[in-house]
Amino acid sequence: MARRRQLYEGKAKILFEGPEPGTLVQYFKDDATAFNAQKKGTITGKGVLNNRISEFLMTKLAEINIPTHFIRRLNMREQLIKEVEIIPIEVVVRNIAAGSLAQRLGIPEGTRLPRSIVEYYYKNDQLNDPMVAEEHITAFGWASAQDVDDIVHYTLRINDFLTGLFLGVGITLVDFKLEFGRLYENDEMRVVLADEISPDNCRLWDAKTNEKMDKDRFRRDLGKIEEAYQEVARRLGILPEA
Ligand code: C5P
Repeated sequence: MARRRQLYEGKAKILFEGPEPGTLVQYFKDDATAFNAQKKGTITGKGVLNNRISEFLMTKLAEINIPTHFIRRLNMREQLIKEVEIIPIEVVVRNIAAGSLAQRLGIPEGTRLPRSIVEYYYKNDQLNDPMVAEEHITAFGWASAQDVDDIVHYTLRINDFLTGLFLGVGITLVDFKLEFGRLYENDEMRVVLADEISPDNCRLWDAKTNEKMDKDRFRRDLGKIEEAYQEVARRLGILPEA
């Protein structure tokens, strides 16, 4: 079969032209980067696990009426998605202090936040993805006020839903990052969840021991990275086929 035309290569994924207009194929690599690609490595089997975990979570979210770009998984490393215009904002939700929030504000890692906090970062590698306010997003036209409203609404619902889902399998959802895109469908433009949801962009701690089960194991050289991703998949009941 002729190789599909590659449209974009990111740090952890490649996008290929899809089989029908308006579709893309999202390929999950084993490559891992951290600290804006200053640290690079490979986590064997990560792409396969993230493809499955993201499929599982996006499918669950669709069941509660969160619109997503996900159509179906094609094979071990690829999924068919709807082509969307990515909104250049990373939306981070935090339930417990960790990572950059703990560092920036001097709050000890593990402190439960009085309420969930939503932050926005402008997606720009050259600028190191700076944090921005809603004002910047609308003033510079990265998204309309209505888009931001939709994004916040979906984000808070996703946080509530995923917090419960993970807690049910003994995992604390500490924080995570979402990306959204615009999709023109049925004569209207709407905001849909895009990218992926996986241990690459969530902080997941064992609910009993607080052991890290996510990309912080790579960022901080804690070892047993693939095992941790595998354990997340195992608890969700979705181990990849052999
Ligand atoms: O580093 P920081 O604490 O701001 O990250 C918050 C959350 O967003 C973490 O779960 C992290 O994995 C995710 N994140 C991401 N991609 C980025 C920045 C953060 O997935 N570029």
